[in-house]
Amino acid sequence: MNRDIHIPQSEIDAALYTCEQIRKSFTGERFCFVESYGCQMNDHDAERLTGMLAMMGYTLTDDKSKADFIIFNTCAVREHAEKRVMGNLGALKKLKDEKPELKIGVCGCMMQQKEVSDRVYKRFPFVDMVFGTNELHLFPQMFEKILCGERVKQVRDIAGEIPEGLPAVRKIPFSTNVIVMYGCNNFCTYCIVPYVRGRERAREPQDILRECRELAQAGYREITLIGQNVNSYRADDGSDFSDILAMVNDIDGLERIRFMTSHPKDLSDRLIDAMANLDKVCNHIHLPVQSGSNRILSLMNRKYTREHYLELVHKLRDKVPGVEITTDIIVGFPTETEEDFRDTVSLVEEVGYAAAYTFMYSRRPGTKAAVMDGQVSEDEKKRRLHELNDVCARLLREQNKKYIGTVGEVLTEGVDERQTVMAYGKLPGFKMVYFEGDHELIGQKVKVKIKDAQNNSLIGERIE
Ligand code: 5AD
Ligand code: SF4
Repeated sequence: MNRDIHIPQSEIDAALYTCEQIRKSFTGERFCFVESYGCQMNDHDAERLTGMLAMMGYTLTDDKSKADFIIFNTCAVREHAEKRVMGNLGALKKLKDEKPELKIGVCGCMMQQKEVSDRVYKRFPFVDMVFGTNELHLFPQMFEKILCGERVKQVRDIAGEIPEGLPAVRKIPFSTNVIVMYGCNNFCTYCIVPYVRGRERAREPQDILRECRELAQAGYREITLIGQNVNSYRADDGSDFSDILAMVNDIDGLERIRFMTSHPKDLSDRLIDAMANLDKVCNHIHLPVQSGSNRILSLMNRKYTREHYLELVHKLRDKVPGVEITTDIIVGFPTETEEDFRDTVSLVEEVGYAAAYTFMYSRRPGTKAAVMDGQVSEDEKKRRLHELNDVCARLLREQNKKYIGTVGEVLTEGVDERQTVMAYGKLPGFKMVYFEGDHELIGQKVKVKIKDAQNNSLIGERIE
């Protein structure tokens, strides 16, 4: 893993100082609208943008028409997300015409691709600022410029730096994500992430621990440790990811630890043992398989076989009681035949996932797979996706029934008032449970007995 390079403290201090200066420069209330697409990494970047905006005196709103500043934090993983951003940006023109003092920004993975940010900057002249994934800490200075009427575009090559010490406004007050590593070295042939997020950089164990301790002290009960591939985490002092789990497990006040994403090629016995032995680490693992065909896995550059993956699943089931496994699957990768697809379906049936996030292969310019022969037609991709989703839904229904009659602990996440008022939250193993309860339970652990199973969730009753 690359050596960890911190952004100099002086640059972070400059960012925080600029936030203060901006706050002092105006009176009255100001609102910002922050929309983030894609993965948890992006969500967390959005939380830090919101953190800096809060320091500047901006309040979050979910009403675009009320906002003084609108920013889209974009995702480049699939074309669909890109199209949505373009559509949403186009729709802002009317707002800007009505309210010329409105400021608009676009950032994130899609903008890190220079030809895309150039295009956006040209095509949407009402957009005030465009920046990539590498400029988060420069946001206040750029923002200061746009407040003075300048237009700003800044997309630097990925320098592989780590920003420590930026504030964050976290969405949920008891459960949150903590980054353990940035970037990815794997170059799966379909994936844009290594190009827009750069090489793997591990945060220092003491930085991760400090952040987790502060969150626990602030009342957070659940922490998800995130990175593109947490299993390959290696700090300069030699600590691996199981060491990090063990250290976080010792923090008083925390009750649950989750982590994602795990690459099957790097899932070690040590990590499986850590899951089995550490009481706060949840019995859930997100282990993207992508395909059940060895030929396709090899073309994807995934560096494991179907057999190795299934062996890991068996090991996990043997060692970690009640473990739930979730996954990502791509259908219609270039040259995927009906037979390859059947291998994916049979693997899904063999594993019995608690959730499978399924995607049609999306061609990403600049990746190896984008120029492979044998691209699969959209119609065929759709057909395979529908069939796979049907299989996953059937398996899930069968699997959920097995929970009926069992007792488990739910960390209450919220209350759904659409039909009857029901509180909801997850069991340690990821399953969502609905039960009678109100807002007072949010953030608390509740013991429930499962009475019924639905397609995507369970119904329980409290048995305190
Ligand atoms: N097309 C479709 N799905 C993709 N993913 C990543 N790149 C692509 C692509 N080009 C999926 C993978 C990954 C998840 C985050 O997104 O399944 O695990
Ligand atoms: Fe993309 Fe593969 Fe890295 Fe995941 S492991 S971010 S799929 S290149």
